[in-house]
Amino acid sequence: MLGYIKRQADAHELAAIKPAPAGENRMEALVAAMPGGETVCACNQVSKSAIMKVMEKDGLTTADEVKQKTKASGSCGGCRPMLEALVKVTLSGASAPTSGMELESATDHSICPCMTTGHEELIQLISTTGTESSEEVRELLDLTTDTDGCRTCEETIAYYIQRNRSQGTEHPSLPIDTFDEFISWCAEQPVPSTIYAAASEEAESVFGILLHDIAVQSCPAGYEIYVGGHARHPVTEGQLLCITDTREEAIRAAQFTVELYSTEGWFNEKTWEWVERAGIGSIRERVMGLEHRLLEFA
Ligand code: FES
Repeated sequence: MLGYIKRQADAHELAAIKPAPAGENRMEALVAAMPGGETVCACNQVSKSAIMKVMEKDGLTTADEVKQKTKASGSCGGCRPMLEALVKVTLSGASAPTSGMELESATDHSICPCMTTGHEELIQLISTTGTESSEEVRELLDLTTDTDGCRTCEETIAYYIQRNRSQGTEHPSLPIDTFDEFISWCAEQPVPSTIYAAASEEAESVFGILLHDIAVQSCPAGYEIYVGGHARHPVTEGQLLCITDTREEAIRAAQFTVELYSTEGWFNEKTWEWVERAGIGSIRERVMGLEHRLLEFA
């Protein structure tokens, strides 16, 4: 249910979940009706389809085996009943691994004509299996051998594998003192799509600054940070993310924002698209959390 709420599912999706017939296990009926992209284990971000695919690939037959392989139910344990029901349903063949993908694709766009898989499902699959091989990903996705894949899916799979690999080995960013250093730092980040950064000490709004992916602008109250600007079609003004008292705080907030985009942006997704998808409020909250609530938000 949380998954439905998080992606603001249409009411018709909820209406499509049929009540379990009398005598049938309600949890199993619920799990069988869930779209593949729905999260089973919120603690470890493991989806229904990721579990079913791993079970199918590795021949897993128990919840404990799935836990060992995917970490599902390995933290708070609250999802254990759902996991057990899913294991049972999968073994009985009552729900195919791609069950509900049609609904999922309405929010998670397929990456290219070679595959129906969306970005979130691909990211989860790579993270769950920990695979470092594009070939293995293609096998897990059941991509047939009559196509070697196009450049888009090859680059997308390679990008997510690299991102997954680097997530466990990330080092905290070094403190940056000047705007020039910040702009150079932005150019070196492994972001999903090239970003353009700008920063100005001038209190008067600098022409075009809001058309940058990330921008810091001095203002009478301190510094304003904007995210999601785009100077090409469709021209988009960046949205005000927050206001900070000092330049150091502004640079740190802007760095956190770029790091967040690096971590969760979809391959080739522009910052304005990411802001639209994630929501400026959600990004703001997380930047605020990362900054230990030192920032004053607009
Ligand atoms: S929700 Fe799965 S372990 Fe907490």
